[in-house]
This record gives sequence, C-alpha cells and structure tokens, in this order.
Amino acid sequence: MSSSEKILVIGSSGQIGTELTAQLQKIYNENSVVASDLKKSKNFSGAFEELDVLDEKRLGEIVSKHKISQVYLLAALLSATAEKNPQFAWKLNMNSLFNVLDLAKEKKINKIYWPSSIAVFGPSTPKENVPQFTVMDPTTVYGISKLAGERWCEYYFLKHGVDVRSLRYPGLISYTSPPGGGTTDYAVDIFYQAIEKENYQCFLKEDTVLPMMYMPDALRATIELMETDAKNVKVRSSYNIAAMSFSPKEIAEEIKKHISKFKIEYKPDFRQSIANSWPKSIDDSFANRDWNWKNKVTLSEMVKDMLAHLTLSKK
Ligand code: NAD
Ligand code: SER
Repeated sequence: MSSSEKILVIGSSGQIGTELTAQLQKIYNENSVVASDLKKSKNFSGAFEELDVLDEKRLGEIVSKHKISQVYLLAALLSATAEKNPQFAWKLNMNSLFNVLDLAKEKKINKIYWPSSIAVFGPSTPKENVPQFTVMDPTTVYGISKLAGERWCEYYFLKHGVDVRSLRYPGLISYTSPPGGGTTDYAVDIFYQAIEKENYQCFLKEDTVLPMMYMPDALRATIELMETDAKNVKVRSSYNIAAMSFSPKEIAEEIKKHISKFKIEYKPDFRQSIANSWPKSIDDSFANRDWNWKNKVTLSEMVKDMLAHLTLSKK
C-alpha cells in the first residue's frame, strides 16, 4: 500500500474488526487507519468515528473528511442473529454494501474489502472439499445476503471497474473480542467455559463438522488479498479459503489434552439446522493459485494458543 492510502474500517469493534484494525495500524501506521462502528470499543486507541453504515450521508462525510481511499466493510448481522430479525439483516447486510460500492463507483474511494462466508453454500452444495464454483442454495437470510452480496461485488467490478475483493471466511476463532452471533461461535465460547467451569454445553451435535480458521490466518489472508496486484485477483465474487475442519467432539478432545477434567454435553438448538446446511470442508485452490494463499495454523496449535492467551488474561 502506498503512503498516500488511507483506510476506513467499518465494524471495527467486532470480532474481526478489533484485530484487523490493530493489525492494519501496525502494518501501515496508526495515522493511515480510521476505525468506525456504532460504538467505540473500550481499549481502542487511534482515530475513531461513530458511524451507522446505513447513514449514507455520514459515511460520505467521513470518507471526505479523512480522505479515505480504501474501505474494509465488516458491519453485518451474522447467521444466528440474522435469523431472529431477517428483514433487518437483509437491510443491513445489503444496504451497507451498496453504500460502500457506490462510493467506489463514484471514484470517491479506490479499493474495498468485504467478507463473505461459508454460509453462501446450502444443502445441495457438496459437503466435502467444496469447489470455488459449485451449487449455491443458502437457506439462511445471512447466507442469502452473502450470496447476493458476492454477485453485486462481481457486478460492480464488471460494470463499473470497482476494485472489490472478498473472502468466504470459515468460522473464525479468536480470543481478543467475543464473536457476534454466528453458528460457529461455539468454537470460541467453549474455551471460556473450559477455563472457567471445566464444562461446556454445546448448541451443536457432537459430530457436526464445520470449516474453521484461527484469526491470525484470517487476518493474513485478508491483508494478502488486499495487497496483491489487481491483475492477480481473478475471482471478483469471493474466494474460498480453508484452514481446518472439526466437530465439537474433536475440539473438546483437543481441549481435554490440556484440561483433563473438561466435559462437554450437547443440547442442539436452532443453530443445528443452520450448521447442517453448511459444508464440512472447503477447496481453496483458486486462492492458492491466484495469490499464493496457504493456511498455517492447525487445530492442535490453535487450541494450545487460545488456552494460553485466555488463561494468561484471567491472571
Ligand atoms: P461482529 O458481529 O463481531 O462485528 C460486527 C461489527 O459491526 C460490530 O462491532 C457492530 O457493532 C458493527 N455494526 C453493526 N451494525 C452496524 C452499523 N449499522 N453501522 C456500523 N457498524 C455496525 O462480526 P464479525 O465476526 O467481526 O464479522 C465481520 C464480517 O465478517 C461480517 O461481514 C461477517 O459476516 C463476516 N464473517 C465473519 C465470520 C466469523 O466467524 N466471525 C465468518 C464469516 C464471515
Ligand atoms: N461464523 C459465521 C457464522 O456462524 C460464518 O459466517 O455466522
């Protein structure tokens, strides 16, 4: 990124935003990054603007005030929360994207990052090693909004030359900021409960395998995609990326290697049917071919690192 570029992160107080903003500040320096969200998070330091991304006028004002050239749009309702308020989820997830895509169409910014999700896949998608291009029939409002968003990203690229880049994140696991209402959140909650109570009640069945990724890999993928030359970005909808796949039973077994008394019980709720509609594993060979994406962190490394950080933060 050249020194004249200025980044706006929208949704900077969330699970990804908290860490991505810090990482961007570290790489490009604090003055090159402006954070924004409905509310500032407690320990945030750096430039911050309160913003409801649905307020197009305020978004435009922030972009011109800070001479923003790149936007990372992270504000959204995730899968479980979206099912509780489908119409608002559709409005937030779609209108936020249009507000940002239109800024680029009008040449007010020159690059956009917008995350998609494994939720774009559905019951008719192959369950194993889902190819980049395949059947997509999402059954959740979240997945429908992400699939529609992907189509609009490609449309704005083809029709208006908008440089928008996207990844289909798997469930993301991290210790800095709690997850925001997804179906994969159990794989984060489990660590807090394991440390606190040596016990966890899981809202998915023991054998529900889902694609997951540790946050450092997700941040690296995001920044590598944004840094690569535009000519390398051959997929303008959204790239499959993958790291690990496991079930609640498998992650519990891995945690037990460190906390021997840890016990897990299963009480599936409405999120089980969401998980059932998603694939178990993802083929990310297009991301590897186009911009050399390669995951690093394995399940056992992730579990060890999560427990180390969360145990330390409790002391
Ligand atoms: P999150 O819920 O933790 O964070 C979203 C942030 O957006 C919150 O801080 C929230 O306050 C903010 N926000 C909500 N409405 C807003 C509005 N109107 N204006 C401004 N800010 C608003 O979500 P996350 O996990 O950080 O996810 C970020 C993005 O990544 C989302 O698009 C999500 O769909 C995608 N994603 C996340 C995962 C994951 O596992 N975390 C996986 C796949 C895709
Ligand atoms: N982690 C997200 C969710 O469960 C996947 O996009 O909603």
